[in-house]
Amino acid sequence: MNIHSYEKFWLLASMVLIVGFILTITYGAVGLGIAMVDDSEDTIDPETLTEHPDFSDPGIEADGEGGYDVYVEAIQFAYFPNDMRVPGNSTVTFHVTSSDVIHSFSVVGTNANTMVIPGEIASVTVETDDVDEPRKYGVICTEYCGSGHHDMEAALTIVPEDEFELEGEE
Ligand code: CUA
Repeated sequence: MNIHSYEKFWLLASMVLIVGFILTITYGAVGLGIAMVDDSEDTIDPETLTEHPDFSDPGIEADGEGGYDVYVEAIQFAYFPNDMRVPGNSTVTFHVTSSDVIHSFSVVGTNANTMVIPGEIASVTVETDDVDEPRKYGVICTEYCGSGHHDMEAALTIVPEDEFELEGEE
């Protein structure tokens, strides 16, 4: 069988393209280390948040290893606590859950950003900057969650490490 040389060229070119597509998809799926949300997240019953040891009284606490945990409840259309203060030069982990629908917890101007799904506890760990004076960030919801979505926000302030006190501490 005689195959015209142009046809051979295009056959070969299409093979190269197909292999190229497969390699690109494979690289995108496994090569970049991008982790998808899966069911390895901690789970929680959104109906019983008020009985949960950490989420019944959300806020910041020491994690016992020199860092801090901040427990946050997202609800239409607010975050509790609404005004978070965390120390600078510290490791801070936010644990966020929703008691109603899907929200997000997005610290404006940073890459701290997570989807917040009822029944799951999303966690984001950040190393806060060593600030000389308080630095304020906005926290917003970037998942459409209802009529008040655009009003769903909170404040997050990084305070200088030596000025920071946990509530209830002398
Ligand atoms: Cu919560 Cu949008």
